[in-house]
Amino acid sequence: MTIAIGPFMLDNPVALAPMAGVTDLPFRKLCRSMGAGYVVGEMLASDPSLRKTRKSRLRGVHLEEPSPRAVQIVGWDPATMADAAKYNVDQGASIIDINMGCPAKKVCQRYAGSALLDQERLVAKILEAVVNAVDAPVTLKIRTGVSPQNRNGVNIARIAEGAGIQALAVHGRTRACKYIGEVEYTTIREICNAVAIPVFANGDINTVDQAAWVLNHTKASGVMIGRRAHGAPWFPGQVASFIRTGNVLPAPTLEMQLEYVLHHLNAMYDFYGAEQGVRIARKHIKWYAGRLPRQDIINSELFRCETPEAQLDQVSELYHQQDRFTKIRLPHCHRKLYEHPLRAREKEGKAQPRTENSSQVLTPIGKTDKSTLQAWSDQSPSKNVSVRL
Ligand SMILES: Cc1cc2nc3c(=O)[nH]c(=O)nc-3n(C[C@H](O)[C@H](O)[C@H](O)COP(=O)(O)O)c2cc1C
Repeated sequence: MTIAIGPFMLDNPVALAPMAGVTDLPFRKLCRSMGAGYVVGEMLASDPSLRKTRKSRLRGVHLEEPSPRAVQIVGWDPATMADAAKYNVDQGASIIDINMGCPAKKVCQRYAGSALLDQERLVAKILEAVVNAVDAPVTLKIRTGVSPQNRNGVNIARIAEGAGIQALAVHGRTRACKYIGEVEYTTIREICNAVAIPVFANGDINTVDQAAWVLNHTKASGVMIGRRAHGAPWFPGQVASFIRTGNVLPAPTLEMQLEYVLHHLNAMYDFYGAEQGVRIARKHIKWYAGRLPRQDIINSELFRCETPEAQLDQVSELYHQQDRFTKIRLPHCHRKLYEHPLRAREKEGKAQPRTENSSQVLTPIGKTDKSTLQAWSDQSPSKNVSVRL
C-alpha cells in the first residue's frame, strides 16, 4: 500500500496525528525513526504577529527534520492563512496542512479549527487562497461534520478536492462531539468514495487489528494515529508493519523502551532547554509509565523531578524496578549502558559548568539508540520494518 502527497511518496500509510503539546520535533523524529510513515507538526497560529514568539519558533519548521516537513496552520482569514502558508514554505516546509478539525475552545472562539466547518463558503475561500499561495502541496484535516445532525464532511471534502487540496485527514467525530462518544467510520467511508485524493482515517485507532479493519471498512488510503502513540512511539510502526506483512511486531522489550525513553528525554532537554524540557517531559513520562506492567510500584516522585539529572535517574530506576518486580528481565549490562552523561564527564574530569541550556551538558544517547532501534527492526518476524534514523 503506497500513498503520495503531491510529489512526496510516503514510506507507508500510517501517519502520526498532529497534537499540540505532543508532536513536537523530538516526538516526531522518534515516531518516524520507529516506523511512522508520515508525521505532522503541532498547529501553528497564522497570525503574523505571533511568528517571532518562542512557541511559534519551536512549532515551526526545523530544517534538520527529514522531508516531507508538514507544518499545520490554523486561522480563519484567507489572506492571513495564505501568507502564513507562504511564510512557512519559505522557511522550509514541504507540506502545508490546514487545521479544520480542532474543537479546542481557544481555537473555536476565534472561528477557526473545526468551527469553520459550518461556513462552507469561507472554507472554500481559505483553501483556494492557501493552495494558490504556495507551490507545496496543501492538505486539510477535518472532522466528519458540524454535528450529528449536520455531517457535512462529504461536502467539505468535495470543496477541498475542488480547491486543489492534495490529501485529507478525517477524525470520525463531529465538531459538536468533541472527544465524546464512539468514533464513526461510515462518514469517513462516504468521504473516501466521494473524492479521489488520499484520505487518512483518524480516531480511536488503538490496535493493529483495528487499524486494518478501519482501512478495509473505509477504503481510506491511510490511517492517522493520535493518542495511542502517547507513551508508545513505536505503535505507528507496529501498525505499518502489520499492514505490510500481516505480522504483529512485538512491542519493544523493557530494555529497549528504556533506551527510547532516555533518548526522548535527552532530545527534549536539547530542544527546549533544561527547565522547560523537564516540565514538558513529565507528561510523556506519565504516558510511558502508564504502559508499564506494574503500576502499583510506581513512585510519584517520578513526576515531580526538577532537573534533567533527577528525571533521567528516576526514569532509569523506574524501568529497573519494573525489571525487579516482573518476570521481564533487563539484561544486567543495561546498568552499565546507561550512565548519566554529566556523571560520565565528571569521572573523566571534563564536566562543564551548568548552563540554562542543557544541550551543552547532556549528550543524547544517539549511538545506543540507533543500534537498539535497528534491533527492534530486526526482531520483526518479517525483518521488513524499516527503521530510519
Ligand atoms: C493533546 C492533543 C492535541 C491535539 N492537537 C491537535 C492539533 O494541533 N491539530 C489537529 O489538527 N488536531 C489536534 N488534535 C486532534 C488529533 O490530531 C486527532 O484528530 C484526535 O486525537 C483523534 O485521534 P486519536 O483518537 O487517534 O487520538 C489533538 C489531540 C490531542 C489529544
